[in-house]
Amino acid sequence: MKIPSVKGVRDILPASLGGEAEAFQFVETTCRGLLEEFGFSEIKIPIFEYTDLFARGIGSSTDIVEKEMYTFDDRDGKKISLRPEATASVVRSLIEHNLITTSPVLKLYYVGPMFRHERPQAGRYRQFHQIGVEVFGSASPIIDVEIVSLIHLTFQRLKIPDLELQINSLGDQQCRPNYRKVLKQFLKERLDHLCENCKKRFETNPLRVLDCKEKGCRTATREAPVSIDHLCQECLSHFMEVKNGLNQLKIPFKINERLVRGLDYYVRTAFEMVSPHLGAQNAVAAGGRYDGLVETLGGPAIPGIGFAIGMERVVSLLDKSGISTPSPHLFVATLGQEAKAMAASAVFQLRQKGIRTETDYENSSLKSQMHRADRLGARYVLIIGQDEIKNGRATLRDMVRKEQKDLDLSAWIESLVNLLSTS
Ligand code: HAM
Repeated sequence: MKIPSVKGVRDILPASLGGEAEAFQFVETTCRGLLEEFGFSEIKIPIFEYTDLFARGIGSSTDIVEKEMYTFDDRDGKKISLRPEATASVVRSLIEHNLITTSPVLKLYYVGPMFRHERPQAGRYRQFHQIGVEVFGSASPIIDVEIVSLIHLTFQRLKIPDLELQINSLGDQQCRPNYRKVLKQFLKERLDHLCENCKKRFETNPLRVLDCKEKGCRTATREAPVSIDHLCQECLSHFMEVKNGLNQLKIPFKINERLVRGLDYYVRTAFEMVSPHLGAQNAVAAGGRYDGLVETLGGPAIPGIGFAIGMERVVSLLDKSGISTPSPHLFVATLGQEAKAMAASAVFQLRQKGIRTETDYENSSLKSQMHRADRLGARYVLIIGQDEIKNGRATLRDMVRKEQKDLDLSAWIESLVNLLSTS
């Protein structure tokens, strides 16, 4: 009996097998380049943590913590969860290594898989990949603008069309309680029209009701009070400065007053990059400010802000026409055992010199070897047979120009390296 992969989890195959592995590599390489230009360093964090970290960090009444984490007992009985996101882990690491004392602003990024037991659908997986960034140590709106400009440039560099940057301010510990009260008052009068999930959220997480996709909830909350109308003076001026900064950089954005985010740690600026081509799961990247999270997780009062890009969604929007596995410079075709032995050492020496080289591993006919070289897109094929060895020469075929020439076997490695390192 075959054993399939787990529901919502998939293999990412190479392009030559109809998959997208090279497209993922392209997104990762492009992002890494830009992140380094912005002064970020990579942090590698564990795939799993104590469950408590996510419960406290993301919020125990969020969907992620309540329903979506892969949680199990470790052998010593401690609760462990596969990471559903990485911000909490980066904060844990920062506290554990006392990192903030080494630098006034700390800029970190990570790349890797996350795990959420959500209902699988287009653009939503149970194992998915994020590239995320976190900046610690500044509450200045200048950092918010820099982070949003980084998202903007990332998608510009990846050439993803038609994206819309949406931003909102969620207030902070000062003004959010009052907004929450006003919102609850509004929702209380409409409880009968809300879905069962939102009736629960009304008690535990009323802001999330604004994010519900159910038609009834959307209609009932159309006139709901929004956070930007209930900001305290500090949050209001922070938001104004972020908007002014973005305008100054000519970065287009739209205010989405109903943008609330599914993680509890956000304060003030929250944002999402959305695409009209993705259906219900339309965010390709999302994030915001989370001043207070470091303290919540037992560290000092250090402000933070960040975002994460969903790689699967980005790859699905990417123009993949120019992305593929690089083809070999050279294919070494052989006829007979003696030629094969000679080829094995030549292939090794060429690879040692950085020449992408492929060869035949079976005793295939010359015709099928030429066919394979062609399929792989090899620029040249070197043909070695018994006659060639006897004469001390081999045939080099240029697959693009359709020309052949003789190579002297005594100096072939050198002449191939000269030829191929310039082709
Ligand atoms: P998030 O909005 O939960 O934020 O996820 C960020 C991005 O990951 C989403 O916009 C989406 O592109 C992708 N994503 C999320 N869930 C899935 C899924 N099930 N399948 C495929 N893609 C998915 C966070 O994770 C925060 N930690 C971001 C952040 C960093 N905020 C501050 N710093």
